[in-house]
Amino acid sequence: MTNALENIDTKIKTPAKESLLTPRFYTTNFEEIALMDISKSLPELKAILKEFRNDYNRNHFVRDKEFDKNWNNLDEKTKNLFIEFLERSCTAEFSGFLLYKELSRRLKNTNSILANCFEMMSRDEARHAGFLNKAMADFNLSLDLGFLTKSRKYTFFSPKFIFYATFLSEKIVGAKMKIGMVIFLLFYYIHNQRC
Ligand SMILES: [Fe+2]
Repeated sequence: MTNALENIDTKIKTPAKESLLTPRFYTTNFEEIALMDISKSLPELKAILKEFRNDYNRNHFVRDKEFDKNWNNLDEKTKNLFIEFLERSCTAEFSGFLLYKELSRRLKNTNSILANCFEMMSRDEARHAGFLNKAMADFNLSLDLGFLTKSRKYTFFSPKFIFYATFLSEKIVGAKMKIGMVIFLLFYYIHNQRC
């Protein structure tokens, strides 16, 4: 089969209607984070930053030969549900990328350790979003992330919830991947990754 990425029939997917389940885009109180006293956690944050810079997952998200097949074996209902799942996941990853990128930009001069950590996290989220968008191309679809950036409303999320949500997303991703794994081999690749 021709690699789906080269398929000229790829269409831009119309964004799903917003609902309670639609991933949101976020903004926060950047000042509050800039002024956070992180002195007690400095050794841990420095260790985390070192791990981020080592970038152990750099070569993990690779589309090898196993992706070179089609997914026509899925019935219509399963396929549509799965596409919706991919769209939500890709939008959520991209939303994380935008927020972390903005945090790294705004904290650069006031809280450089956190700024650097968020920069690394935005790198990873962009990578996840890109990989998921390529998975959508396997179904001849693509998300217009630039359009989403401009058209979506930004929801305020207080700093402490950003920290809680980041922690919880690490826990939830395990369950999410177990569901996806039976449908699409993409999830063999993301399993055990920070997503
Ligand atoms: Fe992610």
